[in-house]
Amino acid sequence: MSTSIHRRQVLAASSALALSAAGSAFAQEKPDGKADALPVPGAVRSKFDKKSTAEQVTDGVDMSGKMVLITGCNSGLGLESMRVMMLRGAHVLGLARSTDKAAEAIAQVKAMGVKGTAAPFACELSEFDTVVKAADAVKATGKPIDVLMLNAGIMALQQPEQVNDIEKHFVVNHLGHFVLANHLIDQVKAAAQGRVVTVGSRGYLWASEAGIEFDNLDGKRDYTPNKMYGQSKLANGLFAQELARRLAGTTTTSNFIHPGVINTNLGRHFPFYVRIAAGLIGWAFMKTVEEGASTQVYVAAAPALSTTTGLYFEDCNPVIPQTAAMKNMELAARLWAKSEELTKKYLPVAVA
Ligand SMILES: NC(=O)c1ccc[n+]([C@@H]2O[C@H](COP(=O)([O-])OP(=O)(O)OC[C@H]3O[C@@H](n4cnc5c(N)ncnc54)[C@H](OP(=O)(O)O)[C@@H]3O)[C@@H](O)[C@H]2O)c1
Repeated sequence: MSTSIHRRQVLAASSALALSAAGSAFAQEKPDGKADALPVPGAVRSKFDKKSTAEQVTDGVDMSGKMVLITGCNSGLGLESMRVMMLRGAHVLGLARSTDKAAEAIAQVKAMGVKGTAAPFACELSEFDTVVKAADAVKATGKPIDVLMLNAGIMALQQPEQVNDIEKHFVVNHLGHFVLANHLIDQVKAAAQGRVVTVGSRGYLWASEAGIEFDNLDGKRDYTPNKMYGQSKLANGLFAQELARRLAGTTTTSNFIHPGVINTNLGRHFPFYVRIAAGLIGWAFMKTVEEGASTQVYVAAAPALSTTTGLYFEDCNPVIPQTAAMKNMELAARLWAKSEELTKKYLPVAVA
């Protein structure tokens, strides 16, 4: 397979994820001077680790008859997740910024000989009206969503950018997915055992110690690319935990993951010297795309996780978040309320 995806990412993605390359980016893997995250006592553990691939962790799992929605299906981890979910028999709803991009990605997977089915949808996460349109188109399928994989993301915008006066990492990585999830959660609840899988990042460690900077959501007071990416990834984790709390008593789960450090298009906004450095030394600690997609597809598909909810995964196993902010459920509730306020006019009448 997947060598073709990997080759494409490395070559065509001129900006290959270099994210990891320089200093701070190392902080996403564990040569970051920070201790490894500790396992969650009593939680279901897998035999998989950072070398496991998405195919390996879903080996023997039958997803036929299941519907899996993936944002950012045209690149990197989203593309590999779509390929493997189709391979395991799921019908994938592939969301990309345009229908053409999503359709091309589906065609690419099919050209690899994967027999599964998929349908393309347009969803530009920074434009909430198009997010609502995407959700309406998905609702029109009239079928339960077994997996809602919130995967798309951006990183390392070197200059502050705002969308409707809110900093762009926060808008794309968190708020766009917040709107989408609120529209589709009833459809996930309609599945026998629906799962929301939020692709976060160990980059949450870069968020300010205060957690979410509610007084700096436009990033104008003080902006550094890693801090803002980290804040959006902290928001991903807090969202996933608050959603799990709200889903208590249902069969629907909500978990979040860090995929590892992988050479994808995510690093496109890094300065060229960082990308070059990553190309030179990244092999020493980066995962392949196939390894990188393993944690999200494991959490999406593993039968053993049918009742596991509210947890954070690295390398296909649940671990304890390493900052007070990521464990702070009051902060999670406050973020939810603020996110509702910021996206109010795009939310369904009754939210999750
Ligand atoms: N790669 C890593 O080392 C790493 C580490 C930690 C966490 N992650 C997380 O993994 C997820 C996937 O990243 P990746 O590595 O696969 O990166 P990628 O190859 O750059 O893929 C990101 C996807 O998100 C889409 N996207 C970006 N902005 C969007 C927007 N405004 N609206 C809709 N879609 C948008 C991209 O679409 P276009 O191609 O059209 O731009 C692309 O499909 C992200 O959430 C990222 O934070 C990655």
